[in-house]
Amino acid sequence: MKVTVVGAGAVGASCAEYIAFKNFASEVVLLDIKEGYAEGKAMDLMQCASLNGFDTKITGVTNDYSKTADSDICVITSGIPRKPGMTREELIGINAGIVKDVSSNLIKNSPNAVIIVVSNPMDTMTYLVHKTSDLPKNKIIGMGGALDSARFKYRLAEALDAPISDVDGMVIGGHSDTGMVPLTSHATRNSIKVSEFLSEDRLNQVAEDTKVGGATLTKLLGTSAWYAPGAAVSGLVQAIACDQKKMFPCSTFLEGEYGLNDICIGVPVILGKNGIEKIVDVPLSEAEKAHMQASAEGVRKTNGLLDV
Ligand SMILES: NC(=O)c1ccc[n+]([C@@H]2O[C@H](COP(=O)([O-])OP(=O)(O)OC[C@H]3O[C@@H](n4cnc5c(N)ncnc54)[C@H](O)[C@@H]3O)[C@@H](O)[C@H]2O)c1
Repeated sequence: MKVTVVGAGAVGASCAEYIAFKNFASEVVLLDIKEGYAEGKAMDLMQCASLNGFDTKITGVTNDYSKTADSDICVITSGIPRKPGMTREELIGINAGIVKDVSSNLIKNSPNAVIIVVSNPMDTMTYLVHKTSDLPKNKIIGMGGALDSARFKYRLAEALDAPISDVDGMVIGGHSDTGMVPLTSHATRNSIKVSEFLSEDRLNQVAEDTKVGGATLTKLLGTSAWYAPGAAVSGLVQAIACDQKKMFPCSTFLEGEYGLNDICIGVPVILGKNGIEKIVDVPLSEAEKAHMQASAEGVRKTNGLLDV
């Protein structure tokens, strides 16, 4: 199992770290355009191996795609992150060119790989890879919903004063401050709907705090977060590498599901060795359906800025 992570910055390195710590991949290649940067991150991570007990071999390369050849899974984290006050959509001008170039180099060297897109604006970057490559749609996956759902569970646990392991919930829709659709009607505490414990107002507050989860951290950190994003990517990589058939909300190309066409947006999918093995259609409340449609409009607006 060979995994390539492009972008050895905050999210890319954190993702490589979690993949190595989970010890399911034989090899992780980190690639960055900044001279020596990926090599340095890889060496630092390899010096954790004896301390943390993993055998995954991590190497770093400066823009040399021949070293990524025959990867099973490739993760794209290259590009600029947002600064406080910015939206993810504002990154499109720089990141679209980077993602287009990086994905074409990856696919040339690993034509059978599953591609996971992380760079923002993620749904539009996933759509860009779909439109500019010949890969089947099951092999192009956008990561956003897994992170947003982790943030939703964090906020739910806080509101319920419960341990996070007691809580389950999912966020679908676009990976943006206004586009996320936290499925409050499906969220549970140990199989009991959270609406049994929380007022409608408190649940709405949980949903709003979830949607601005990334912006809240960007304001505190001065740049976007990396631990939970890296952990979320590593969960997707592990589900594919170990053929786990686990369900995650991921951005995928829709052809009629959720009443949407010709768009990549977050919906529940089953991940296994073929990438996206199934798109799961969940019944939504009327409010969630309306929110999903509005979210799709927002993603389409950003897609309209692409030159494809
Ligand atoms: N989808 C999500 O849930 C999610 C979560 C967090 C961050 N992000 C996004 O991930 C991206 C990376 O964030 P970060 O915090 O790691 O940023 P970062 O600046 O720390 O790292 C980005 C890295 O990409 C490298 N890079 C730039 N152009 C490149 C190219 N052409 N080829 C190879 N490497 C290149 C840079 O040198 C840098 O090291 C951003 O777009 C951010 O918005 C997405």
